[in-house]
Formats: sequence, structure tokens, C-alpha cells
Amino acid sequence: MPGTDEAAKAITAAVVDSFRDTPDPRLRELLQGLVRHLHAYVREVRPTTDEWEHAVDYLTAVGQTCDPTRQEFILLSDVLGVSMLVETVNEQGGGTESTVLGPFHVVESPRRANGDSIDLLGSGTPCVVSLRVLSADGSPLAAASVDVWQCTEDGFYDVQQPDVQPPGNGRGLFRTDDEGRLWFRTVVPGHYPIPTDGPVGRLLVATGRHPYRPAHIHFVVDADGHRPLTTHVFVAGSPYQDSDAVFAVKESLVVDFAQVDDAGKARAHRVTAPFRMAEFDIVLEPATAGPASTGPETDRSGTAGPGTTGSGTAEDTR
Ligand code: BEZ
Ligand code: FE
Repeated sequence: MPGTDEAAKAITAAVVDSFRDTPDPRLRELLQGLVRHLHAYVREVRPTTDEWEHAVDYLTAVGQTCDPTRQEFILLSDVLGVSMLVETVNEQGGGTESTVLGPFHVVESPRRANGDSIDLLGSGTPCVVSLRVLSADGSPLAAASVDVWQCTEDGFYDVQQPDVQPPGNGRGLFRTDDEGRLWFRTVVPGHYPIPTDGPVGRLLVATGRHPYRPAHIHFVVDADGHRPLTTHVFVAGSPYQDSDAVFAVKESLVVDFAQVDDAGKARAHRVTAPFRMAEFDIVLEPATAGPASTGPETDRSGTAGPGTTGSGTAEDTR
């Protein structure tokens, strides 16, 4: 029966069965599911042996591009939408929506105090970001850790421009005050391309896809008794909001960075007018909410995004 559908299905069945004695049931589920879906893909698109060799060479190149500061496999997962899918299936609802971590997070951002500036260059449009960290019941979370990172107005992270930007530019590790509040000064980040000088860039060129991400600020927020959250806020009106190269935009995360011309407000926030101001809440789910559902029955209707405390919710801005 060479080449027949039965021969192909027999191979799949044999490989799935080879994992039947895996002692860890979750590992068994992960591997058997992988084999079933990978084999179904091969049966559907019927790659030639040349095409399969090309695929193996491609994945080899992806691996060879990785080093301690470059993770091309994560980038591949990002542009294939897998990173965002994993985030999404692990959400429980009830808190601010999550999105991808991305490759520009550093292990320890410089510690900063409420009101500090994370802009060490002093150029770009001044911007004040003011947020509250709340629990799902609306109570403020004091002493929550808020790790922030963003690129410059020109679209570069500090680690991409070591000769131009001091380390820690655009980064800060903050703690919320007794009312769960935090504010910092910065510049409005720009949109930027993901790294395109490796195999992932070649894939984008070969498929006619652009590499751009809409302007955003990253946050990792952690508070006692709550699930840590990795998310962004996106600058409303930024280019590429509808075609993010890594599929990470969620409407609830789009925030108005309002133009403020008031000199008094500028003084109060230690910036010069005119400046831009973003105000929003970040809501964490209690840690007791239980494991993430993997089923389609998950009710996500109550999912909260960064609402605002003043000048504009995501909805206000569109
Ligand atoms: C980022 O936002 O930093 C990012 C996310 C995914 C891929 C590349 C960059
Ligand atoms: Fe980013």
C-alpha cells in the first residue's frame, strides 16, 4: 500500500502509539497531539522531499541565528502567531488582556521611583504615563511591581543602539503607591520593524509581509496573590495597528495618548507643554482563579482591558 492514504495514516497511528507509555500524562498529550497535527499537515500539503529538506535547512538557520541576546525561534513563533495564541489560550478573563513579551525585555530594569523619567536622552515628545494597578474586584494593589520598557520615538530599544542610547533608556522597574498608582515621564514611542536581518526577515520578504509593530509600551505587572501579567498599551492612532507583524494587538489595550496644552498640568507633572498623557488601569486576576481553561467553552466576555481613569478608554479613542 505504498503512497496510499492508509499507509500514511498507519504511520501516524504507529507514532502516536509509540508514546502511549509516557509516564507523564501531560507530556504524552503534548507529544501525541503534536504528531497528529504535524502528520495531518504533511498529508494535507504533501511537501516534496526537496521542500522538506528546505524546511529543515530553514529551521537549522533559525537555530543558528540564536545567541544569548537573539532568540530567532521566539521571533518565528511571533510572526506565525503562535506566541499570541499561547498567551490567548492561557488567559482566564477578568483582568487586563495579555500580549507577547517580545525579545527586548531585559532581566532587571533599573529601579525607579514614582514620577521619575525613563527617558535618559531628553529628546522626543514629552509624555506622562499614569496608571493604577487594581485587583479584579476594583481594589487598588499597593506595592505592585511594574516593569516597563519601550523604544524611542524613532523606534529603537536601548539594546539595539548601544552607541546612541545609555543602558536602561526607556526602562524602569517601579512600585505602585498605597493607592495602587504609578506615574512616570517618558517620550511617545514610535512604531518599529521587528529584526529582519535573519531567517524570519527572509520569510517576511518571501511572503510579501511587512515587519512593523504599532507603537506600544511594554509592562510586566506582579502583585502578591495575583497572576503576573505581561502586556502592552498601544498608542491609539499608530500606524500598523491593524496589521501588527506579530498579531499582538488587542483592542482593549489601545489607549489614547492625549495631547495636553495646559501649562499648569505640565508643571505638576514636571514636563513642558504641550505634552501627551496616557491614563489607564491595569487589572490583575487573583492567583486563586484556577488553571487556564483549554476548552472552547471559556467565557471571555468579562475580559477587562486598560480602562482609563480620566481622559480616554480604548473605546473613547476610536
Ligand atoms: C516587541 O514588542 O518588542 C517585539 C515583540 C515580538 C517580536 C519582536 C519585537
Ligand atoms: Fe516592543
